[in-house]
Amino acid sequence: SRRVTVRDIAAAKERGEKWPMLTAYDAMTASVFDEAGIPVLLVGDSMGNCHLGYESTVPVTMDEITLLSAAVVRGTDHALIVADLPFGAYQEGPVQALRNATRLVKEAGAGAVKLEGGERSAHQVELLVSSGIPVMAHIGLTPQSVHAFGGYPVQGRGEEAAQQLLRDAKAVQDAGAFAVVLEAVPAELAAEVTRSLHIPTVGIGAGAECDAQVLVWTDMAGMTAGRVPRFVKQYLALRELLGGAAKEFAEEVVAGTFPEERHTFH
Ligand code: KIV
Ligand code: NA
Repeated sequence: SRRVTVRDIAAAKERGEKWPMLTAYDAMTASVFDEAGIPVLLVGDSMGNCHLGYESTVPVTMDEITLLSAAVVRGTDHALIVADLPFGAYQEGPVQALRNATRLVKEAGAGAVKLEGGERSAHQVELLVSSGIPVMAHIGLTPQSVHAFGGYPVQGRGEEAAQQLLRDAKAVQDAGAFAVVLEAVPAELAAEVTRSLHIPTVGIGAGAECDAQVLVWTDMAGMTAGRVPRFVKQYLALRELLGGAAKEFAEEVVAGTFPEERHTFH
């Protein structure tokens, strides 16, 4: 079947339909979500934390995103694949952004790219969109700015910050973004942004009124170690299940009860 396109995404907002997005970083996991009917998969730079073992998204490189995006594209038939532009891949300006976004589209086969920032990234969004590359924007808590934020605090609290968030949302919409992620924003403000835009908002820690919702798949599946943010719902205890399977395998090998006759060639 044909892939979901940005036109389908625009039509969903017109019909008032909500939609889910999950991250994916490899072909096999992506194929599971594709078969489950998740219409949009994000090859997020959250791969830095949950896949590559970095402490933040900051170290993630274009080579890493390109490699894993290509794997996600190969593992799927239906979903729109959105690839993150990592930190340092678009901040220099629109031309740098276009060069790197082009890699994600040409080399990896992504159908769209995502970058962080509202007003500050509007020129980048404009050049990519006018060059034929659909862009998802990302405002509110933008994790690539962890050093400037001094952590991952909720954004848009207070009248001034709220007005800035609304300006950021408007700026990326006017620049041609097809959707905008709102991360860690009070629900009332996210609802106001959602009402004021004609492009869909994709919430993560932004309440129930957004047009779409995204979660990092390892959080959603209970694979992430330790505490997860308040906005995460764990639909599965995958870490426990997978760890249990590994322990059982180990015990059976040590005990000599695996392999059995039916696993054995003669
Ligand atoms: O990298 C990522 O996973 C993201 C989502 C949380 C929106 O940017
Ligand atoms: Na990201």
